[in-house]
Amino acid sequence: MKYIFGNWKMNGFTEAAALSRSLASKPIPPSATVAIFPPFVSLQTAAKELSGSKIKLGAQDVSAEKSGAFTGDISAEMLKNLGCDYVIVGHSERRALHGESDALVKSKATAAIAAGLKPVICVGESIKERDSGKYLEVITRQIKDSVPSVNSDSYIIAYEPIWAIGSGKTPSCAQITEVHKTIASLLYRDTRAAILYGGSVKASNASEILKSDGVDGVLVGGASLSADEFGKIIEAGN
Ligand code: PGA
Repeated sequence: MKYIFGNWKMNGFTEAAALSRSLASKPIPPSATVAIFPPFVSLQTAAKELSGSKIKLGAQDVSAEKSGAFTGDISAEMLKNLGCDYVIVGHSERRALHGESDALVKSKATAAIAAGLKPVICVGESIKERDSGKYLEVITRQIKDSVPSVNSDSYIIAYEPIWAIGSGKTPSCAQITEVHKTIASLLYRDTRAAILYGGSVKASNASEILKSDGVDGVLVGGASLSADEFGKIIEAGN
C-alpha cells in the first residue's frame, strides 16, 4: 500500500470545492490510500465533495485537549465528527512557528488516537543538523519523544527534512532510505507503521521516491494544490 497525502497548508479556501471535486473524479489505484488535508475551515466543503469517493480526509493539526476553555483550538472528536480519518501532528512549521515540543506532539497524537483518528507524526532535521552529521540523532530523539507507546499501526510517520520543504531540493533516494530504516528500527514491534517521505515531492520525482526502499508513501505540500499535478502523483502510487 502506498499513501499519497496532500497537505494544503494555509491555502485553498476559495478553491476547496472545485479542487476536491476534481480530485474525487480521478482514478485511484487499488494500491494507493489517498487523503487530503485542507485547512479546518474547508474540511466540511471537502467532505461534501469527497463523499462517495475513495479519497479520505485529514486535518493539519489538533488540540491535545478533549474540550473546554481552549479558544481557537479544535479537538480530535470534532475532526472525527467532521469526517476526518487522519490528522497531521508535529509538522515542522508548527514546531518552528508555534514552538510545539516533542511532548506536545506526543499528547496531540495520543488525543487523536483516542478519538479514532490516525495521526501523521512528522519528524525531520534542519539543514544545520544534516550538515553537522547529527541528523539521525535528531530524528531518533524526535521519534522517541513524539511517538506514543502504542501499536505502531495506530499512527503514520512522515519524514520531512526541513530543508526539503518548499525548497525544490530533495534528498537522494539512498538518503531517504537511510532515515526511513532508522525510524523503522526504532518503531517496529508487533505491528508496522507506514513511513512517508515529505519535502518537494512533485509529479516528476514521485515515482522514484515512492519506489525507494522503506518508503510507504508521500506527504505532498505545494504540489497537492493542483488537481492535475496531485492526480499524477496519485497515479505514481500504482
Ligand atoms: P512541500 O511541503 O511539498 O511544499 O515541500 C511538504 C510538507 O510540508 O508537508
